[in-house]
Amino acid sequence: NVQPLILCGGSGTRMWPLSREQYPKQLLNLAGELSMLQATALRLQGLPLSTVDRLNSPILIGNEEYRFLMAEQLRQVGVAHGGMLLEPCGRNTAPALTLGALLARAGGDDPVLVIMPADHVIQDEAAFRAAVALAVPLADAGKLVTFGICPTAPETGYGYIRVGQALGEGASLVEQFVEKPDQATAQGYLDSGRYLWNGGIFVIKASVWLAKMAQCRPDILAACEAAFAGRQQDMDFVRPDKAAFAACPSESIDYAVMEPLTAAGRNSGEVAVVPLDARWSDVGAWSALWEIGDKDAAGNVFKGDVLAVDTENSLVLTSGRLVATVGLQDVVVVETPDAILVADRKQIQKVKEVVGQLKAAG
Ligand code: GDD
Ligand code: MG
Repeated sequence: NVQPLILCGGSGTRMWPLSREQYPKQLLNLAGELSMLQATALRLQGLPLSTVDRLNSPILIGNEEYRFLMAEQLRQVGVAHGGMLLEPCGRNTAPALTLGALLARAGGDDPVLVIMPADHVIQDEAAFRAAVALAVPLADAGKLVTFGICPTAPETGYGYIRVGQALGEGASLVEQFVEKPDQATAQGYLDSGRYLWNGGIFVIKASVWLAKMAQCRPDILAACEAAFAGRQQDMDFVRPDKAAFAACPSESIDYAVMEPLTAAGRNSGEVAVVPLDARWSDVGAWSALWEIGDKDAAGNVFKGDVLAVDTENSLVLTSGRLVATVGLQDVVVVETPDAILVADRKQIQKVKEVVGQLKAAG
């Protein structure tokens, strides 16, 4: 069986002021009619299942606070979910996935997990499903499979995959995985032509993931097992034990497992990459909405009530008021009832510093 797991837990600090802790970005309809969670939940429907028997309903993994919002959003698009794992606090993606793997195994099955972040836009869904269909048999045979995107810029917010020996049908072994390199390193990877971006979507058998955790991060595995053993279940809601989960170290899949498994000289052939050419975008920052948006003749993306004079290559989003811009290039303006962001599109990653300063100021 194939078991989709949707990771729906981040708060999206780089999308301030629209995403707040109260309303994370994956639940907003920034990129179209649907929220990114809804689009993610629909994305695997119609997966060609030649090698496996069944596509299970997705398990959602997210914060306790959003349980009704998540359930309601799935109901709106007619997707039944296969349970909701509610984290009492965020411990990043490695513990979230570990809980998901434990839940998927609880009934005695050992499905192939398709782990999908809820904050991506994938415009070519058929290409995405074809890539997943290629990854499933590799995962069934024991590999940890990730998806590689052709890099277009020295982005420092992504993982980088050094492509190794070909496995056929476009898949390859991963020679090295480097999470979030610095700018100079990222530029070197880009220039070398040997690296792909990590798409952040993983395919792996539940038992294989748990074995990798036992090998790479037994501390996280133990904390998750304790939290899962003490779980409370009420209808579709599965709540791990709060104290046990709070004691779990916080770490991402990328640092916990991807980097150690592919560390220099340790190239063991356990990790594979399938190329993904599906107009993928991590809507991690406002610049991504500009990149994927429909642009006017001057390269602008506007949503809402905007009046622009001599404005080029900019993104302007309004929520109620009219926003007028004059003589601007490469800017981002996001207007909301209680806060307005005006930023250089090319330095947009630094919005997280605004959030940091706001938090520090209480
Ligand atoms: N349930 C749950 N709990 N989900 C979480 C948590 C958590 O504690 N933390 C993050 N997530 C979700 C986020 O909502 C997002 O959908 C996904 O997991 C990935 O987390 P991000 O925090 O957005 O990761 P990233 O974008 O910095 O990096 C990852 O994705 C990149 C591509 O988008 C890495 O895998 C990179 O290597 C990759 O290039
Ligand atoms: Mg992300």
